[in-house]
Amino acid sequence: MDKLRVALLGATGMVGQRFVKLLENHEMFELSVLAASPSSAGKKYQDAAHWCIEGEVPEKFGEMTVVKADLENVKKEDNVDFVFSALPSDVARIVEAEFAKAGIPVISDASAYRMEEDVPILIPEVNPDHLELVKKQSNRGWRSFIVTNPNCTSNVLILALKPLQENFGIKRVIVSTMQSLSGAGWFGVTSMAILDNILPYIKNEEEKVEREALKIMGEFDGSKIIPAEFKISASCHRVNVLEGHTEAVFVELKSKADPKQVIEAMKNFRGRPQELNLPTAPENPIIVRMEADRPQPRLDRYAGNGMSVVVGRIRSDTVLDNGIKFVLVGHNTIRGAAGNAVLNAELAVREGYL
Ligand SMILES: NC(=O)c1ccc[n+]([C@@H]2O[C@H](COP(=O)([O-])OP(=O)(O)OC[C@H]3O[C@@H](n4cnc5c(N)ncnc54)[C@H](OP(=O)(O)O)[C@@H]3O)[C@@H](O)[C@H]2O)c1
Repeated sequence: MDKLRVALLGATGMVGQRFVKLLENHEMFELSVLAASPSSAGKKYQDAAHWCIEGEVPEKFGEMTVVKADLENVKKEDNVDFVFSALPSDVARIVEAEFAKAGIPVISDASAYRMEEDVPILIPEVNPDHLELVKKQSNRGWRSFIVTNPNCTSNVLILALKPLQENFGIKRVIVSTMQSLSGAGWFGVTSMAILDNILPYIKNEEEKVEREALKIMGEFDGSKIIPAEFKISASCHRVNVLEGHTEAVFVELKSKADPKQVIEAMKNFRGRPQELNLPTAPENPIIVRMEADRPQPRLDRYAGNGMSVVVGRIRSDTVLDNGIKFVLVGHNTIRGAAGNAVLNAELAVREGYL
């Protein structure tokens, strides 16, 4: 198969640079346009990018000239088959629609369209069938479509919840997060605010986690998504960790399960990407650690190349009925953003949408 040509909107940011790494030698996609804000446009990528992840800027992209992230400038540069978007939400709202309307599919990390009724929020292992919802977007007069990723915190949480929903049913979820600095983007949190400190509030985060989980874990009836019915409460906090979100999760199950059964269900969990052997799919979407002091972000965030969620300390909870509690770590810019989007695009190709 010829590689599909793709533009990356928001290429210079925290998520953008993860995309650049993941797409450096991708077997299905050729990254041919790097786009960002007007202040980066015209510069070489290596000069414009806020590069701060491991390794150097990949050589083939360093000398590329960044263009302004809009339809006109991207089209001038190359006739791309689709775009990845890692734009701020307010910019994404306008720009992503321009592309979809013009017949260029958008695989997005931004929150702008996530909660629209005709837009799927996709985690390929969890709700691959929701992809079909994009067909509804032709009613907007769009020639193509937008697929979104969940928020990074929801993404890794929902992966861990899915085998519990499938095997035991879920009544209630309570989650307390310890979220990394890269989750706030390049200009996110100043060092004076976060060093020797924890910030007990992340704007809009708890609302996103609570509503996205019910949509993603809901049922697609062929025309709309019927949200899942469990209750969920989140408390979100920013901590002094560079990458990798940690979450303490408490779940009230519908039917009783002991920790051993939960461990088995999580270990055995596989989804459509594993079945299709997609290039970015981790062998195990969930890795269970049995040590008392795991998972930890520094040690576990790169499990499965940053695409696996690492779960540990699985134990019974005596306050909730049929209660189970555990701790998870997931990489926020890989599984929580760029990696999940690349996996979405791979799924869309294999299912005939791209
Ligand atoms: N960080 C995470 O863990 C994470 C996880 C999931 C989802 N997301 C979402 O992904 C998106 C990107 O997040 P991020 O953390 O990468 O943010 P970031 O580091 O602040 O990067 C933002 C990117 O958008 C570009 N941009 C800013 N204003 C623009 C404009 N007016 N026109 C065109 N491009 C513009 C920036 O270009 P310049 O460099 O030229 O300014 C940069 O490339 C956001 O919607 C965020 O909510 C982030």
